[in-house]
Amino acid sequence: MAKPQHDLVVVANRLPVDLRLDESGNATWKRAPGGLVTALAPLMQSNEGAWVGWPGMADLAIDPFDSDGIWMVPVSLSETEIAEYYEGFSNDTLWPLYHDVIARPSFHREWWDTYREVNEHFASMADYAAAEGATVWVHDYQLQLVPALLRAARPDLRIGYFHHIPFPPLEIFSQLPWRRQIVEGLLGADLVGFQRSGDAANFLRSVRKLTDHTTSGQLVEIDDAEDRLVRQVKASAFPISIDSGQFDKLAQTASVRARAAEIREELGNPDCILLGVDRLDYTKGILHRIKAFSELLRDGDVDPAKVTMVQVASPSRENVDAYQQLRDEVEVQVGRINGEFGGIGRTVINYLHHSYPMEEMAAFYLASDVMLVTSLRDGMNLVAKEYVAARSDDRGVLVLSEFTGAAEELTAALLINPHDIDGTKAQVLAAINMPVTEQRRRMRRLRRRVLADDVAKWSNRYLATLTDVATSQPERVDT
Ligand code: F6P
Repeated sequence: MAKPQHDLVVVANRLPVDLRLDESGNATWKRAPGGLVTALAPLMQSNEGAWVGWPGMADLAIDPFDSDGIWMVPVSLSETEIAEYYEGFSNDTLWPLYHDVIARPSFHREWWDTYREVNEHFASMADYAAAEGATVWVHDYQLQLVPALLRAARPDLRIGYFHHIPFPPLEIFSQLPWRRQIVEGLLGADLVGFQRSGDAANFLRSVRKLTDHTTSGQLVEIDDAEDRLVRQVKASAFPISIDSGQFDKLAQTASVRARAAEIREELGNPDCILLGVDRLDYTKGILHRIKAFSELLRDGDVDPAKVTMVQVASPSRENVDAYQQLRDEVEVQVGRINGEFGGIGRTVINYLHHSYPMEEMAAFYLASDVMLVTSLRDGMNLVAKEYVAARSDDRGVLVLSEFTGAAEELTAALLINPHDIDGTKAQVLAAINMPVTEQRRRMRRLRRRVLADDVAKWSNRYLATLTDVATSQPERVDT
């Protein structure tokens, strides 16, 4: 069989398609909603693009296939690989380590071995898919070894890497027994992109401390054995966004507006609806948010007959202990507060452990008066941007944790430190009582920012920088 020849190859943990079974049990693939694939689709369709990723189930060995003009290259993972590479090293070692050790990271040598093997598997699939001189764009913390593995196999490629989550300070990153291998893995790329300039600075400091490479501004110099410069790696910030235009349009459709009115009705038409929308993850500060809200109820600052909270907590990584514990804690607290402050037919916290389609999310955003984003650490937080994009009525208030990447851009939000419960309570109260004129003034500023910097602009800027860096590499030294 001829080797496929793709000029643009995206490598990510997951494929951007979901498997659906029809009534007769036939499998079909449906494009999963997501900013990244939407932004890259036109480019990939015109560049013979391929996407290398895991289809989301164990032992699913399927041949590459076309999905709306993008060539999908499935990477099959066994149950052990899912347990050790995905649930283990990615989500029980790296995830807590990279999020300020909010939960305690587990360090297991077997998990690291499997992480390395799975990264090798992804790299070999990318090698297989990429044409001579192609651009390969690797995504996120699950695949940090892929850039160097690919560079070793295919020096002809232009390799980019984007890190979607925070990159921790050296003092935390240093806990990782395999910290040097991770840094060297990332340095296989021409361009290492981060959400915030602080993440890029943390990475560059780790490079200086943990390797022999020297840095100059945002550039890392890679020398050969004779100390001659072979290549430069650029590390800088590219804050990601959403398809804001699409969200804006969706939220203006008659059906979404009608559904928003219906949601308010179903909630008993309260004066004020507070909304939280998160994956059920300990980084999101859901317990801090609930604590602040329950104290406002207890202090009598908020009347439970007039103000209600909706918490959408979508199921996530349910085989990982820390996630199971969080679910138990959140559900105990929600039950306690509803028992104490609710009444017959009146729930104070409407807790929904579900995922919803985009249309329903847009309706939730429109129906609510205050959006609560209280992450303890968050690479960007796209929910904050979705909320803003949905509010073409210029109404609603965004309460936003300063520990999100989004807080660097969305400065017209009410910023909070979620660890400061009194400060959070004060901002939530200010949001509940904010006059319409001030809501409009803030929301207009937020919308200008979110509508201007969408995900298409983000990917164009990233790929243009990657081209610049790759084409200005020093001449390779002949040995
Ligand atoms: O934010 C990092 C991330 O890996 C996203 O890319 C993804 O949408 C989300 O977390 C959920 O992750 P998972 O693939 O583990 O369900």
